[in-house]
Amino acid sequence: MLENNLWYQNSIFYEVHTRAFSDSNQDGIGDLNGLTQKLDYLKSLGVDCIWLLPIYPSPLKDDGYDISDFYNVHPDLGTLEDFKKLVEETHRRGMRIIADLVVNHTSDQCRWFQEAQSNPDSPYHQYYVWNDTPEKYRGARIIFIDSETSNWTWSEKAGKYYWHRFYACQPDLNYDNPAVREELKSIMRFWLDMGIDGFRADAVPYLFEREGTNCENLPETHAFLKELRRLMDAEYPGRILLAEANQWPRDLRAYFGDGDEFHMAFRFPLMPRMFMAIAKGDSTAIVDNLDQSPEIPANCQWCTFLRNHDELTVEMVTSEERQFLWDFYAPEPRMRLNLGIRRRLAPLLNGDIDKIELLYAILFSLPGAPIIYYGDEIGMGDNIWLNDRDGVRTPMQWSAKANGGFSEKLTGNLYLPVIQEGKFGYPQVNVEAQINDPNSLFNRLRRLITVRKSHPAFSRQEIEILYRDQPEIFAVQFSESGGKIICIHNLSSRVQDIVLPDLQCNLLTQSTNQTKYGIDLPAGKISLEPYAYVWLSHCL
Ligand code: BGC
Repeated sequence: MLENNLWYQNSIFYEVHTRAFSDSNQDGIGDLNGLTQKLDYLKSLGVDCIWLLPIYPSPLKDDGYDISDFYNVHPDLGTLEDFKKLVEETHRRGMRIIADLVVNHTSDQCRWFQEAQSNPDSPYHQYYVWNDTPEKYRGARIIFIDSETSNWTWSEKAGKYYWHRFYACQPDLNYDNPAVREELKSIMRFWLDMGIDGFRADAVPYLFEREGTNCENLPETHAFLKELRRLMDAEYPGRILLAEANQWPRDLRAYFGDGDEFHMAFRFPLMPRMFMAIAKGDSTAIVDNLDQSPEIPANCQWCTFLRNHDELTVEMVTSEERQFLWDFYAPEPRMRLNLGIRRRLAPLLNGDIDKIELLYAILFSLPGAPIIYYGDEIGMGDNIWLNDRDGVRTPMQWSAKANGGFSEKLTGNLYLPVIQEGKFGYPQVNVEAQINDPNSLFNRLRRLITVRKSHPAFSRQEIEILYRDQPEIFAVQFSESGGKIICIHNLSSRVQDIVLPDLQCNLLTQSTNQTKYGIDLPAGKISLEPYAYVWLSHCL
């Protein structure tokens, strides 16, 4: 196994929806063997760690986040043997792999819930949260506001209401029950014993409920999560827990504890602010957020991202900021979902490859380990006419062949339709074409990844923000042994003239749209093209 227990601090992560990635058996559904066949592709992009969306048996009412059996693989995707092979092959290539751990709830089709409903004396009855009325825990918000009106649903069979923070088909587990806490630990051991490198833990703020609170981030929840960390450290050192907690900065910071809870957490509050900054041509939103972000323990790391498999959430912004983001990025009602925007990265930026490259450069210059959502490395489009969040989960576009090279199934439907029309259709946007084009998004991103990986100092937490009085610019400086690194980005549509601090620097990399004539390092001057960036190193 690969050594270095802090590996996650400077890794490039990649989020895979197995169902969407590559179909090895022509049934129109991506599968584990299909993913295994594409590992060399991920390696060539520079990926260090894969995060798999849920791969477990499920009725797929929430695309696999409604698990009916936590100890198996969904038959559409393959077998436990296929899974083991995927893990082995990933490791053989020097990469790692983590799996989704859905902690908060099960599917209503899970055997536990079926028994819980039909038999109040079954031990499984106590696996869930019941009440005679829907009045308890009124302080808890509803998350899926477009489809649910209450966190309680009546069970005819049980003659009681059960508690759920997401869809009604996802009953919450009762973490006050020690048997549930032990069950979760068995689930973790089951998958860790198969060699995975950790978990992305889903929806962790909601594990316990207490009257008079909003039932989020409770001390009981943190205490239990620390217990899980102790299990990892004692039995599986070097494996990680990554938190999905869409919370305000102070509440989010708590998931790192004193370095004894999560190793990593998604940096939710920063994400919408990057979109705000590029829309306004003004870095203030990013800078303010960085200024206000609490420090995190030395053994932890942020996981930074632009997009993922969910809607682009705009919950953790002010109502004016939310309105701005909706108006700018989701002008059509179908583009909105709950409090978010169901669009992919490339369409959000109108397919403007320079802007996409710029946002990736900003992401890569920030403290944290970046994660790329499958398909966003080639600028895939979305389909807002599909249900729920399916529009951002369409088949990976590998080539200009039928089905975008995703599947050789030629009759009947794929699990979701491939995007074929318009500028984001697979004839235009696909891996094969981009690998062969040095200026493609894929190759631009690959170059950025290579540069970032050649300077491990990118994983540090201490940055200094430069050019604060020039809000069109977002620039950060940090130190490494050979001198300072300075990353300067122009968020605006106008050329920006930069006068460098009194330093001699080398050019580390620059955006594809930056002319080399605009960079005069001996004179300490840079004319930064619209939406361009320049990264400098060895600044002394
Ligand atoms: C996942 C969603 C899912 C929800 C319920 C999340 O936060 O990212 O895709 O619907 O948890 O499991």
